[in-house]
Amino acid sequence: ITLEQPYRTAFHFQPPQNWMNDPNGLMYYNGVYHLFYQHNPFGPLFAVQMYWGHSVSHDLINWTPLEHAFAPTQPFDINGCISGSTTILPGNKPVILYTGIDSQNRQVQNVAVPKDPSDPYLREWVRYTGNPVINVPEGIQPDEFRDPTTAWLADDGKWRVTIGGQKDKAGIAILFRSEDFVNWTRHEEPLYEVTGSGMWECLDFFPVHVDGTNGVDTSVTNPAVKHVLKMGVYDYARDYYLIGDYNPVKEKYVSQDELTLDSLRYDYGKYYASKSFYDPVRRRRILMAWVNESDSDADAIAKGWSGLQSFPRSVWLDQNQKQLVQWPIEEIEMLHENEVSLRNENLEDGSLHEILGITPLQVDVQISFKLTNLEEAEILDPSRLDPQLICSEMDASKKGIFGPFGLLAFASHDLTEQTAIFFRVFQHNGRYIVLMCSDQSRSSTRKGLDKTTYGAFVDIDPQRDEISLRALIDHSIVESFGGGGKTCIIARVYPTLATRDEAHLFAFNNGTKSVLITELSAWSVKKARINIDETIGCAD
Ligand code: FRU
Repeated sequence: ITLEQPYRTAFHFQPPQNWMNDPNGLMYYNGVYHLFYQHNPFGPLFAVQMYWGHSVSHDLINWTPLEHAFAPTQPFDINGCISGSTTILPGNKPVILYTGIDSQNRQVQNVAVPKDPSDPYLREWVRYTGNPVINVPEGIQPDEFRDPTTAWLADDGKWRVTIGGQKDKAGIAILFRSEDFVNWTRHEEPLYEVTGSGMWECLDFFPVHVDGTNGVDTSVTNPAVKHVLKMGVYDYARDYYLIGDYNPVKEKYVSQDELTLDSLRYDYGKYYASKSFYDPVRRRRILMAWVNESDSDADAIAKGWSGLQSFPRSVWLDQNQKQLVQWPIEEIEMLHENEVSLRNENLEDGSLHEILGITPLQVDVQISFKLTNLEEAEILDPSRLDPQLICSEMDASKKGIFGPFGLLAFASHDLTEQTAIFFRVFQHNGRYIVLMCSDQSRSSTRKGLDKTTYGAFVDIDPQRDEISLRALIDHSIVESFGGGGKTCIIARVYPTLATRDEAHLFAFNNGTKSVLITELSAWSVKKARINIDETIGCAD
C-alpha cells in the first residue's frame, strides 16, 4: 500500500490488511506463540463470514503472518469461523474448539487439530469430519451460543468447557463435559448465570494465585487459587470479570461480588473480546484483546484496515484479592531505546513539562506523583459517583485542587490537539479517592470520530502510595496503566496536527495544588516486525 498510514502501529499487533476483531486460540507450543484472530480477508469492515487469521511469534513482539487457519468452507462453518480457543491435551497435543456458523445459520462448536504436529508453526489445521461436536442446546437460540473457552481438566478425568449464551435475558455460562474432547455432555446447571445481563460472549475462565504474580495453568484447582470468570457483555460491548471460588466436584462457581454495570473491568476504554492464556515459559498468564477503531467506516476503507490487539499484558490477582492487576509484558524492553529520566520535579499550578529526547508517537512512559496536604482535596459530589461521567464533565481543561495532573500525549505544539491521561484526587466518606481519566475530546481536529472520554477509580491510598501512570503510546492508540496496573484504559486517537515531527509529549498539572514528580522514565519504542514479512494468503 502506498497510502500514507499515520495511524498504523509500531508495536501493537495488526493484520497485514483488512478487518480484524477478536483474538482467538492464543497459545504457546514448542517454542512458538500463536495468535489467531477474527479476520475478514476481503475488506476493512466486519463481515459475518469470518476467517481465522494466524500469526506466530518467538517473543510476543515480532509476528510472522501465516495462511488462514480456517476459512468458512465446511457445512458446519460455511457461514463463519467465529471465535474459539486452544487447549493443550496431555502429550502436548493442541486442539482448537471454535464456533462455526453452519449452513442453517446455527452456532455450533467444532474441533480441529494440527495436520502435522511436527510443523513448528502448525500452519495447517484439520477439521474433524464428525463436526459439530456440540449442537445448540435446548432452550438456547441458535444465534446465541458461541466462543468456547480453553478447556480445563478435573480429577475425574473429564474436560470442562464453558460457552456463552443467553436464556430469558439472563447471561449464561453453559457448561459441557467430555472424556475425549469429541463427545460432550451438557451439565444441567450452568457454571454461572446473571439475570437480566443479556447475551454473554467470549467467556474466559481461569485460576489466579492468591499470593504472587505468577500465572496458573488453566486446569489447576486448589486452595491457593481463586477463579476469574470474564464475560463479554454484548449489550454494552464490555468485558467484565468476577473473582470467586470454583469447585469442580460440586461443579459450582461462587463469585465474591455480583455482576453489575459497575463491576470490575480489565480496561475501561476501547477494549473487548479479551482472551488469556498460560505461558509456561515465564509462568505467567497473558491477556490480549480486540481494540476497535474510533473512526468511521469510510476512514477504514481509506486506511484499508481496521482493528488492533492490545499489547500483551501479564495478569495476576492483587494482594487485596479484590481485583486483578495488569502490566505490559517485559518483552517490551527489547524495543526500548533512548531512555530519558527525571527525578523530583515539582509541577506547579498550570505547568507543563515537555518530555524530550524520545519519539512522541512511539513511546513507553512511566511517571509517579506524590501529593501532600491532601486534606485540602475537593469533596466528591455524592450524587456524581460515575467515574466516566466525572471525567467527561471535568475534562482536562477544568481546574481542580489536586488535579488534573498527568500526561498530554499526541499533543500539537500549541496543544490544540492533545490526549490527556490524568488523575484527580477527592475526599469521599472520610477517605481519599483517586480518579483516572483518558480525555479524547481534543485528540483530533477531525470530526466524525468517537472521542468519548473514559474514566475509572484507582484503588490506591494517595496518602500512602504515590500515584503512578504508565502509557504505551503508539500512533493511534494509547494504553494507560494507573496505580501499577490496577486501572487500565485504552483509547484510540487520530491526530492531524500532532503527527510525525509535530507531536509532543508533556507532563502537566492543571490543579491549584502543586504535585511532585518523584520519578519519570520514558523510552522510545522501536518498530516491531508485525505481519510484514509476506502477504497473507487464503487457506482454501
Ligand atoms: C465478539 C464476537 C464473538 C464472535 C466474533 C465474531 O466480538 O461477536 O462473539 O465469535 O466476534 O467475529
